[in-house]
Amino acid sequence: MGPFTRVGCMRRFDGMWRAVADVGRDRRGGYARDAWSAADLELREWFRQEAGLRDLAVREDRNGNLWAWWGDPGSRPGVVTGSHLDSVRQGGAFDGPLGVVSAFAAIDALRERGVRPGRPLGVACFTDEEGARFGVPCVGSRLLTGVLDPARACGLTDDEGDTLADVLRAAGRSPQALGRDEETLRHVGVFVELHVEQGKGLVDEDAAVGVASAIRPHGRWRFDFRGRADHAGTTLLADRDDPMLPFARTVLLAREAAERHGVVATVGKVRVEPGSANAIPARVSAWLDARGPEESAVRALVAELTGAAGAEVECESWTPVVDFDAALRDRLAGALGGVPVLPTGAGHDAGVLASAGVPSAMVFVRNPTGISHSPEEYAEPGDCHAGVAALARVLEELCD
Ligand code: GLV
Ligand code: MN
Ligand code: MN
Repeated sequence: MGPFTRVGCMRRFDGMWRAVADVGRDRRGGYARDAWSAADLELREWFRQEAGLRDLAVREDRNGNLWAWWGDPGSRPGVVTGSHLDSVRQGGAFDGPLGVVSAFAAIDALRERGVRPGRPLGVACFTDEEGARFGVPCVGSRLLTGVLDPARACGLTDDEGDTLADVLRAAGRSPQALGRDEETLRHVGVFVELHVEQGKGLVDEDAAVGVASAIRPHGRWRFDFRGRADHAGTTLLADRDDPMLPFARTVLLAREAAERHGVVATVGKVRVEPGSANAIPARVSAWLDARGPEESAVRALVAELTGAAGAEVECESWTPVVDFDAALRDRLAGALGGVPVLPTGAGHDAGVLASAGVPSAMVFVRNPTGISHSPEEYAEPGDCHAGVAALARVLEELCD
């Protein structure tokens, strides 16, 4: 690359941000970047190009995660940063891409300062973090660490009825390759994910950046309510077997029980079959997302709903509490001048890696409204730049 100036890396951050801004943007201003969609493939290509511009060697691992290396991770385990490029449906611009764009910009910042890292430095892009398409979040990092069974992953089905195996084959990848990847894991000595904050903790602390302490336990459950399809006009109320009614009762109970158990519960996705305005449904499928500070309270909520719903219930994913490595967390917070340390209710690949024994940490960037998983998700440019500077500082510290 050409000579760096003090502001060069921030200009590069702005340029990269503009380059990805329109990829997968829908007409309502949100993003649709499902894993392995055209938008996702375009972003993966963008990742390769940015790595190439910096002479970073790109590898795609067995599970579709991308790695760009400065130095040879075969020589000794590296320091890795990065995040994901897929999004929730009608999601915001920042959840995921901020961590990947900031990773490249932080490398630029280090080079600007003439830093020669004493360890290999990697940028990671994890595949299918949100699980928007196949239902299970953090598919790339779960497969990498062996938490998700490859056979189960292959059979996950999207709304069109295509399995992950079909989709991988169509993208030129081999479903047979999926699974725990010891070689890739050996390359990762430590992982730091920068992410937009998905709450207002940093606003309350009046700080542009912070460090994560923990990820609250969370999971997703599918409730299938079955009934009998029939005519909406000719079927007497007494003769109906309408699954919409127990579904509606379950949604209301979820809210009420969440308050009692001190957790949060969300039904954000529903599928009604056949989905006709003039037919009683045959089936309602609803997805419950439940999270809380205590695993036992989340489990108690789900047990209560399962008992009351009269539905078939399947746990599609469960992520236990993650307490990030305290020494690493404190080292990073100290290197950043004593920034706030705060927990989050959002899931992340860093949490999956941490649970698998990879020393991991997270840097959060202030979100002025706290809104996330929405087109309104935002971070001020100045705070994004502060995030890049913080990440560069952290990488330098860890490479030392
Ligand atoms: C991912 O962002 C999640 O918390 O579901
Ligand atoms: Mn997210
Ligand atoms: Mn994310």
